[in-house]
Amino acid sequence: MPKIAVYPGSFDPITFGHLDIAARAASLFDELHIVVVHNPAKTPFFSSEERVALIEASFSEAARFGKAFPSSKQAKVIVATMDSGLLVDYCKKVDASVLIKGVRNNADLEYELPMARVNRDLAGVETIFLPADPSQGFVSSSLVKQVAELGGSVDKYVPSAVVKALKGKH
Ligand code: PNS
Repeated sequence: MPKIAVYPGSFDPITFGHLDIAARAASLFDELHIVVVHNPAKTPFFSSEERVALIEASFSEAARFGKAFPSSKQAKVIVATMDSGLLVDYCKKVDASVLIKGVRNNADLEYELPMARVNRDLAGVETIFLPADPSQGFVSSSLVKQVAELGGSVDKYVPSAVVKALKGKH
């Protein structure tokens, strides 16, 4: 049976931190679904379609973490959207038994733990936490958007397609 994992998030937009987690997860599974999920607690800056396109356009830049992504030795990578419903139902639909989450700090872990427990309780879906690379530990999509809006450079934090898309919006 292939090992299938789902890496969910808002990805609004994808950062190098996300890309590093995705590339590392892809080396652990046969199939990885990167799923752009609508989070009702957040007002999206990019549409779901734009976020999917930015993720796909960013794959080649995972090379900066020393990994070709996705490579033949890694998982088949699928980018999808989920605008409503439960994440565990998406997992069931694609036969995934594992969720991937990147963790930068204690605050991330506190936010993620209840979700991990509820997803396991609802459907037996386990969550694997991958520690963020220290070089990406302070990078977040919201900080990137703020810096870009105020005219700062975000080249170090996000793939070039995202830099371009942010410039197009401001
Ligand atoms: O990048 P984010 O916004 O922190 O990601 C949070 C997300 C989208 C993964 C989370 O809100 C989520 O899992 N939403 C799906 C709805 C769901 O299944 N909720 C119940 C269990 S958490």
